[in-house]
Amino acid sequence: MTTRMLVLGGYGTAGAMLARLLLERSDAEVVLAGRTAAKADALAAELGAEFGARRCSARCVDAADSRALDDALTGIDLVVVASSTLDYVRTVAEAALRAGADYYDVQLSVRAKFEVLESLRSRMEREGRCFITDGGIHPGLSAAMIRALLPAFGRLERADCSGLMRVDWNAFAFSTSTIHELVDEFRDYRIEALRDGVWGKVPSRQMQRTIDFGPPWGRQACSLMFLEELPRLAQTLPTLRECGFYVSGFGPVVDYFILPLGMVALKVAPDRLGPGYARLLSRALKATSRPPYETVFQVEAEGIAAEPGGARRLAGLRVAHEDGYHLTAAAAAACLLQYLDGSIRRPGLSLQALAVEPGRFLADLQTMGATVSVRGAPELAAR
Ligand SMILES: NC(=O)c1ccc[n+]([C@@H]2O[C@H](COP(=O)([O-])OP(=O)(O)OC[C@H]3O[C@@H](n4cnc5c(N)ncnc54)[C@H](OP(=O)(O)O)[C@@H]3O)[C@@H](O)[C@H]2O)c1
Repeated sequence: MTTRMLVLGGYGTAGAMLARLLLERSDAEVVLAGRTAAKADALAAELGAEFGARRCSARCVDAADSRALDDALTGIDLVVVASSTLDYVRTVAEAALRAGADYYDVQLSVRAKFEVLESLRSRMEREGRCFITDGGIHPGLSAAMIRALLPAFGRLERADCSGLMRVDWNAFAFSTSTIHELVDEFRDYRIEALRDGVWGKVPSRQMQRTIDFGPPWGRQACSLMFLEELPRLAQTLPTLRECGFYVSGFGPVVDYFILPLGMVALKVAPDRLGPGYARLLSRALKATSRPPYETVFQVEAEGIAAEPGGARRLAGLRVAHEDGYHLTAAAAAACLLQYLDGSIRRPGLSLQALAVEPGRFLADLQTMGATVSVRGAPELAAR
């Protein structure tokens, strides 16, 4: 049966790319939704002309309005949240449950989102609804990459993940709420990693590392950053002793001037200074973004090889694309393709990076234009 999905933020940067990929690669019907009817209509007309008007339509809906959501979700099988609506996670998730729809989001991995979704977990299980959260690449990719390397190890001991996101910020027009959410993410910033087999806080003097992202980037200064998918994965891998995610910054001006300023401003008076700071950050990102552009995610893994009497092994996996937004949409589409054919559709709450079958996920990313390369584990590269 054809799946009908409503994409909240369906004409936003990530949502529009995701909608196109899903129309190209599945037979799903897509409803593009958001608060601006003209934008939803224009994109639905464009995609409808290409993929058939029956498969693509528009709907004006505000994620803050539960009644409007109830109307919009009638007859919908899956709600895809690609909107900057973290303030309304409960409103949207409860509307999905009322409508008997499944749920998938590419929103930032913040504590408040998990608190809401975890509080609804038993209802999801009872009512047979599949909720997949933390989709996309950041979050969404790192733990899946570790899982893809697992068959190469009999005993995986270390998995260091890193990400470099050099995005042409001038190419996109973001909603104010999207920039506010980015600012909120800094408020939620946690310096945590797995050290000696225990997940916890890392002293701030140990949060910096330089990591080689390959040409043209070379070694880049990176900071440790919490990703919900990593401690959850670590819990399932008792041999793992070291694991963390290191993110490369936005560039010296933003990293050393704008971000520290924001940390102070948001600590002192988040509500009063937050909106002004969001404008400043948006301007600074646009003013300082320079080519080349590329988004790179890497895992370096170490342990004992899988073969009998296995030797010590160092293996790596790298995923890259020149357009970080395309990579985000491709990762979301690759996950949803597994959802759509039923292979990962399970009642309850799961995270994309822990739900997907990682080999197929990476292969699909490759067919959507990503470069995927394996180092030190030829048997995986040959698959
Ligand atoms: N996981 C990842 O890898 C990853 C990567 C990039 C982005 N993201 C996340 O994806 C989300 C979208 O990012 P983006 O860069 O695509 O943002 P964007 O281009 O600014 O698009 C945001 C979309 O959300 C819609 N929206 C905002 N408030 C809404 C509301 N109250 N009700 C309904 N729709 C609303 C906007 O439409 P209207 O304003 O017209 O309503 C717009 O279509 C954000 O949460 C962002 O943090 C995740």
